[in-house]
Amino acid sequence: MSLEASDKVFGENTDGMESFLIGTRQVIAVNHEYVNNETNLPNNEKGMPKNLDEVKILQHMQGVTVMEVAEGADGWQIVVDSPLNRRIHHNTPMKLSGPAAGSDLLKTAADPAGVDCLGTFNNCGAGKTPWGTYLTCEENFNGYFGSTVADFKMPDDYKRYGIVAETRYGYELFDERFDVSKNPNEPRRTGYVVEIDPSDASSTPIKRTALGRIKHENAAVVVARDGRVVVYMGDDERGEFLYKYVSNGIYVPGGDTSKLLDEGMLYVAKFTDEGTGEWLALTPETTGMKMDEIYVFTRQAASKVGATTMDRPEWVATNPVAIEAYCCLTNNSNRAVVKDGKMKTNAGGDVMEISAVNPREANEYGQIVRWYPENDDHADGKFKWDLFLMAGNPSVHKDGLYAGSSNINEGNMFNSPDGMMFDSTGLLWIQTDGEDSNEGEFAGQGNNQMLAGDPATGRIERFLTGPKGGEVTGMTWSGDKRTMFVGIQHPSAPFPDGEGKLPRSTIVAVKRDDNALVG
Ligand code: FEO
Ligand code: CA
Ligand code: CA
Ligand code: CA
Repeated sequence: MSLEASDKVFGENTDGMESFLIGTRQVIAVNHEYVNNETNLPNNEKGMPKNLDEVKILQHMQGVTVMEVAEGADGWQIVVDSPLNRRIHHNTPMKLSGPAAGSDLLKTAADPAGVDCLGTFNNCGAGKTPWGTYLTCEENFNGYFGSTVADFKMPDDYKRYGIVAETRYGYELFDERFDVSKNPNEPRRTGYVVEIDPSDASSTPIKRTALGRIKHENAAVVVARDGRVVVYMGDDERGEFLYKYVSNGIYVPGGDTSKLLDEGMLYVAKFTDEGTGEWLALTPETTGMKMDEIYVFTRQAASKVGATTMDRPEWVATNPVAIEAYCCLTNNSNRAVVKDGKMKTNAGGDVMEISAVNPREANEYGQIVRWYPENDDHADGKFKWDLFLMAGNPSVHKDGLYAGSSNINEGNMFNSPDGMMFDSTGLLWIQTDGEDSNEGEFAGQGNNQMLAGDPATGRIERFLTGPKGGEVTGMTWSGDKRTMFVGIQHPSAPFPDGEGKLPRSTIVAVKRDDNALVG
């Protein structure tokens, strides 16, 4: 990959996506989560960059693509000369907004005001606002920051987020911004939800710090009964938490939406074993932390209020035809595991004991939790919950928790639910990112896959199976709902081009033979 082409081509490792109808144009915004160094720098050992230009090539291949697409005789194609096409990457200028913007914690030598930053990182899942903007979610941002000084004393807050001296990208060797011994605040400027306006390719993306700094999976947006905007968000790490944001203002179609993701309250979920739960507000009073600290060290704030440690919260989805939400808890190899007489904890020291919502020790199959807000109101502080499914293997385990819930059978079994969205009819689509060895505990489960679930009956059916080595992640629908777009990430089989060709992450268009609706 040449430096000149690297910020113009479609990036690597497709993940969350959303579609938009902008006038008559069909636009897809899609994330590029990470980069394969060896593929892009094939002449370098382990693909490690040897100069700043090579760092930039890697930086350009990640982030977001906004692209106009159109359906013709040969199927769907990118409209290559569209004025809406855009690549956003690790050096794209962005604004920080919300309660942490301007904080001393976010100031750097290059940005003494703490409001102007560059780039969005490890863009995993996504979301879409009612006002037509795209939300891209920064997940494993820690992996890009390292230290060129071996004995540099890492700040205490780094540990919770996994920021360590060595990286697999090598940015810090040639780009000072990523060297924490020189710029210790730089990693604190990532880990946010970023809002992008796909209707204006010259618009500046905005990092919405009010939604917290965690390893964001996706952002499921729903409007509450009174018009307030609710955003559900998972923090994907073993024993981390499930969050909810509620705006202060209400959404009025055509009105000013610029503060709806800046001014509001951030909550974290506590589940009881009796099928109830509550949203705990993160405030200076409840956490003992300053406002900016809550939004930069959000994990630490959530630990202080006693949130429930979860089995890696991945995507949240809200049902468009019922007042309920679902979250994939993908797996947690450390759940309730005791080593040297001590039970394992998350990175903040919170013990991961068995609970009704995370019921299995060393959970390698995952489950999907569903909650029903009190008073049929997503802004309400309380909820009831149940498990929509527990993945498992009924051919290896004849009974017990590891066989899975009653809606799992030998014909639909899978592990590690991850991507998840509802279509407009209220059907739940589930994608997996798990163990595809097809052996041992996973015998008979095959490759990663996509399934459809019926919320009313609990029935689960397998819809498609991905190529070997890949995960199925990201989905959206064309404006006419006659095409479903499905993302395939990091296949090892030679997909989609066939034998002898480089395996590539791909967006697949799925249609019915009769061109009927698919969502
Ligand atoms: Fe990027 Fe948690 O998946
Ligand atoms: Ca994921
Ligand atoms: Ca995953
Ligand atoms: Ca992935």
